[in-house]
Amino acid sequence: MYKDLAFDHDDELIDELRDLDYEQGDDSLFDSDYRDLNFDDYSMDEPDIILDVPYVPTDEKIVHAMLDLAEVTSQDTLYDLGCGDGRIVVAAALERNTRGVGIDMDPMRITEAIEYAGHTGVEYLVNFFEGDLLEADFSQATVVTLYLLDLVNVQLRPRLLDELRPGTRIVSHAFDMGDWKPDQRQSCGSINIYKWIVPAKVAGTWQWQTSSGETYRVELKQKYQQLSGKAWIDGEEAQLKNALIKGDLLELVISKKANTRPVGFIMRSQGRELVAAEGKLQTTPAIKIQQNK
Ligand SMILES: C[S@@+](CC[C@H](N)C(=O)[O-])C[C@H]1O[C@@H](n2cnc3c(N)ncnc32)[C@H](O)[C@@H]1O
Repeated sequence: MYKDLAFDHDDELIDELRDLDYEQGDDSLFDSDYRDLNFDDYSMDEPDIILDVPYVPTDEKIVHAMLDLAEVTSQDTLYDLGCGDGRIVVAAALERNTRGVGIDMDPMRITEAIEYAGHTGVEYLVNFFEGDLLEADFSQATVVTLYLLDLVNVQLRPRLLDELRPGTRIVSHAFDMGDWKPDQRQSCGSINIYKWIVPAKVAGTWQWQTSSGETYRVELKQKYQQLSGKAWIDGEEAQLKNALIKGDLLELVISKKANTRPVGFIMRSQGRELVAAEGKLQTTPAIKIQQNK
């Protein structure tokens, strides 16, 4: 079977990856996991399938830690991109009643995953598709799990940010996402797992009125989940004390002058508006009056 498979990264690249500055004791793919791989099995002669990442299954303990970190529930739809034998998707279905989709380029992995789902009786909750994870449609996911390489994570990053709904959780085994820093990192023994929450895109200039008639304006700059910017109240420059985004929820803290009491706003990004979150200070919806420059 593996005669027709090849791994897209040559030995030189793998060596280069091994030399990356991982924390001491970080037992990532390059160390313990690659140890068991026999690259001779991946013939490079006229391959039919070029894998971006070799098959190395996630240890069951790490599978559970990933599901916990992602806070997976029965309300979620979990996609494992490069699903291997389907163990993450099946574990979520079995233990949390979660719908799941696994995508893998290797037909043998998909056959194994379908059989595994059948043996465990969760086939009604899960689907497995043969395909390229770099091209697959994963926009319906509320949780995405990854055990790829950091280079592949970085390649996927723009699509994860553009195509997943704000609030979608992404959990990666061992590999990070370049300069998109994780919202959370957890060590499981010597292995790191990472979690990101897809942020709404809120860069630009927004304006709204409070019930007391004041007009607030903020100009926000955004890099992933990090925000910075300026604020005005009734046209006068104010202080933007805090600007945080978590999924589709935006928190802004603004004060008139250094010593005045700051006012906090919690708004939900809804299409082209920011709408005051329930139970918080009531305002008109914030309207974008200028795109980010
Ligand atoms: C490290 S394994 C992870 C398997 C599984 N997610 C797990 O954690 O147990 C990576 C998987 O990605 C698959 N893969 C590699 N490149 C792919 C691509 N471009 N599209 C889809 N699957 C790919 C491999 O066949 C392999 O099963």
